Amino acid sequence: TDPAHPDAAAEIGVIGGSGLYALLDDVTEVMVGTPYGPPSDSLFLGEIAGRKVAFLPRHGRAHRIPPHRIDYRANLWALHALGVRQVLAPCAVGGLRAEYGPGTLLVPDQFVDRTSGRVQTYYDGVPLPGGAVPEVVHVSAADPYCPVGRAAALAAARAQDWEPVDGGTLVVIEGPRFSTRAESRWYGANGWSVVGMTGHPEAVLARELGLCYTSLALVTDLDAGVETGQGVTHTEVLEVFARNVDRLRGVLFQAVEALPARRDCVCSHALDGLSTGLPGVPDL
Ligand code: ADE
Repeated sequence: TDPAHPDAAAEIGVIGGSGLYALLDDVTEVMVGTPYGPPSDSLFLGEIAGRKVAFLPRHGRAHRIPPHRIDYRANLWALHALGVRQVLAPCAVGGLRAEYGPGTLLVPDQFVDRTSGRVQTYYDGVPLPGGAVPEVVHVSAADPYCPVGRAAALAAARAQDWEPVDGGTLVVIEGPRFSTRAESRWYGANGWSVVGMTGHPEAVLARELGLCYTSLALVTDLDAGVETGQGVTHTEVLEVFARNVDRLRGVLFQAVEALPARRDCVCSHALDGLSTGLPGVPDL
């Protein structure tokens, strides 16, 4: 933690994706070191309806870090170290069905990992800088998202008159390139709903720390397999995200308010009875 802010703490974390680089106006900026190196940026602490929230821009505030270079372990660790136990994670995605056009908000209940080479576990047996050795731990990823967080996100969207898609599969590609039309058609033919680049390993690393994790996937474009133009561009992604960022912020605020102060979901029990070898995990 930043020595200037020894009391820095938060209970809810928001990881902002492409186009969401700040959440609140009145914030305290803290730098949090981790055994894995620095997170993507400082954490920005503020309050929403009396709940202490830590915001972290996933790609850094100037969007300098591409999806495959993000240190997902450092990001989740930093949030956990501040006391965060519930994470809301908006991200930009491409739609894999014509009816999931730009501006659709989908709250996935499954993901498929099509990344390669990303570090996706804390439990790799490699000693941490302080000498602690992670145990062998296999968490369940059968239902990778928090059911309580999902319900809060869905209710928050409906309360803003933004009818969300309840459930669906987010396929996470390695990137940074977008998909070919054949890849995209294949994803759609498999019944997958949307495609993004950051959902994995973020969700499973959260689970490995016993955190609740909810993905809010904002469709910014129709992916190559369903659109008939020139293919998706990064400019288009950022433009559509920008057009929706105010109502997305509204959904996040309302979802934060609705998250329970006490947890009893699958995520909160992910590490029950286990010793992890990680300092402060599961208890801090
Ligand atoms: N993020 C936003 N749009 C995307 C797309 N079409 N494919 C992968 N990631 C995306």
